[in-house]
Amino acid sequence: MDWKEIYENRQCSAEEAVKLIKSGDRVAFSQMAGEPAVLVDAMVVNACSYRNVTISHMTTLGEGLYTHPEYKENFRWEGWFADYTTKECIIQGHGDFMPVYFHEMPRMMRNGLIPIDVFMVMVAPPDERGYCSMGVTVDYAYQGVKSGKVVLAEVNDQMPITYGETSIHVSELDKMVLTSHPLTELARPKIGPVEEAIGRNCATLIEDGSTIQLGIGAIPDALLSQLKNKKHLGIHSGMISDGVVDLVEAGVIDCSEKSIDKGKIVVAVLMGTKHLYDFINKNPMIEMRTADYVHSLNVISQNSKFVAINSCIQVDFMGQVVSDCMGVKQFSGVGGQMDFMRGATEALDGKGKAIIAMSSTAVKKDGTLISKIVPFIDYGAAITVSRYDVDYIVTEYGIASLKGKNLKDRARQLINIAHTDVREELKVAFKERFNAEF
Ligand code: COA
Repeated sequence: MDWKEIYENRQCSAEEAVKLIKSGDRVAFSQMAGEPAVLVDAMVVNACSYRNVTISHMTTLGEGLYTHPEYKENFRWEGWFADYTTKECIIQGHGDFMPVYFHEMPRMMRNGLIPIDVFMVMVAPPDERGYCSMGVTVDYAYQGVKSGKVVLAEVNDQMPITYGETSIHVSELDKMVLTSHPLTELARPKIGPVEEAIGRNCATLIEDGSTIQLGIGAIPDALLSQLKNKKHLGIHSGMISDGVVDLVEAGVIDCSEKSIDKGKIVVAVLMGTKHLYDFINKNPMIEMRTADYVHSLNVISQNSKFVAINSCIQVDFMGQVVSDCMGVKQFSGVGGQMDFMRGATEALDGKGKAIIAMSSTAVKKDGTLISKIVPFIDYGAAITVSRYDVDYIVTEYGIASLKGKNLKDRARQLINIAHTDVREELKVAFKERFNAEF
């Protein structure tokens, strides 16, 4: 059948499309700006038709109504990243978090460890050959489309067209719902003096010609704003946002010295403002690749002068890093943090740098400061980056370089970049912990 006929025949309303979901199914969908919100909303409206449908995704920017207790007979959330929307259902007990390396997700969908009954995706309208671009999100979503027994698509004519592993033929989409709405935007974060100082400190670790991985948020943006005088930087990252666009337009990020994927920004998820979405549209410099490529240890480690910069919640005196839990509470997820930290550590040129960049303190609701550098991690917390993989810890006060250092020297360095208000207290804890003078 001609692709145009398939495209015509499979179009329907969102209400019609979600009738293909059956009780007991696992329904997964694309994350962030790629979330097919029209289908998700229709699924929730149709909730009374389902029993025990498992919902899986990484980060949602939607309301996540399917996690609310009134729907607990209909939906059970079992996701790969706890965020402000989803973490409450874990606390209440009717939702759960699945720890998983990002690089493994496509493989686990292929081999059935994460079976996908229904995958829901947002795509751009088909090109003249019948292929739809997945636009801003391919990470696990590209494989989700391949592995889903049923695939439902929202075809949004405002989805940017990107290149790489993004093309899906209309014949792979069982139902298509035509929409037209701007993508969800993430406003640029506010950068305060603390983030600015962290960015300045991290920038001293980045040489010209480096390839960088970083997340999104105030610290990554603060770092990018400090890189204006660098040359020939490259990007190989799970996600990027607007700060990268500024440096491409300034000629700082040109990917010309990358050891693999030369000339290309390799990325799995794009999330930012309309400025970013316009920049990536039909831009051959943007190479969208799935998590089994972008987050692969083998691929990351082939990048020369690779620098991974991620953030965390707590670091103990030994350098053990906690990034997704606050005690027993699941606070976020790890995304590609371990993949990139390990990849930098194993870099084939021996010049990789694995950096954890964080503010030295968090602020409690009542205004009191909590040190992120602690003698012992909180009870029940899970370690994200082990003391064996940790390399640089950066705060607004400086840089602790932990590789090749014994336990006491690690603790001394960390205390020296802790907030000045808590250093004396930490020094007392040091004496008790190590039975030695600071
Ligand atoms: N104790 C208590 N509260 C803490 C805390 C601690 N040790 N550390 C952070 N918090 C609180 C902050 O006060 C803040 O609370 P608020 O939202 O009420 O203001 C909140 O947690 C976020 O902390 P912040 O310091 O602003 O961190 P962030 O927004 O930069 O996020 C992580 C930090 C670690 C949660 C985030 O980077 C993350 O999820 N990382 C793991 C995934 C990852 O690395 N992805 C990138 C690779 S793909």
